[in-house]
Amino acid sequence: MLARYLSRLVLFVIFTFALPSYGTDELGKEAFLNNGCSKCHAIESLAVEKEMNPETGKISKGPDLSKTGLDHDADWFVKWLKRKVGQENDRGKVLKHKKTYKGTDEDLQLIVAFLQARKPA
Ligand code: HEC
Repeated sequence: MLARYLSRLVLFVIFTFALPSYGTDELGKEAFLNNGCSKCHAIESLAVEKEMNPETGKISKGPDLSKTGLDHDADWFVKWLKRKVGQENDRGKVLKHKKTYKGTDEDLQLIVAFLQARKPA
C-alpha cells in the first residue's frame, strides 16, 4: 500500500516538476548545439563552451550569447540568422552574420526562442 502510494508520489513529482523544465529552453539548446552554433559561440551562463575545430585546432571568435536576449527581439534574430540584416560592430562597420542559417524552420523557431531567453533574470 505504502509502496504504491510512494510510486505515485514519485510519478507525480516527475510529471509536475521534472518534465516541464525539459521544455522549450532545453529543446532550443539542443537545436543550438545541433546546428553548429557552439562552433563559434559560448553561452557562459549555461556553461555551453565553444567547440574547437578538430581539423585546425582553432577556436572561432563569435561572441558569448549569455545576454543576447537583452539586445534583440525574435524578428531581428530570424533576419540576422538568415543574413537579411546587419549590425554595426565596435568600429562602426556594418556586418552581417558570419554564417547563413541552413537548418529547418522548426529548429529556427526553437533557436530564436532560446536566444530571446538569454538574458540575466
Ligand atoms: C563560423 C562561426 C559562427 C557560427 C557557426 C555561428 N555564428 Fe553567430 N556570430 C559569429 C560572429 C563572428 C558574430 C559577430 C558578428 C559577426 O561578425 O557576424 C556572430 C554573432 C551572432 C549573434 C549576434 C550577437 C549579438 O548580440 O550581437 C547571434 C544572436 C548569433 N551569432 C547567433 C548564432 C546562432 C544561433 C548560430 C547557429 C545557428 C550561430 N550564431 C552560428 C560567428 C558564428
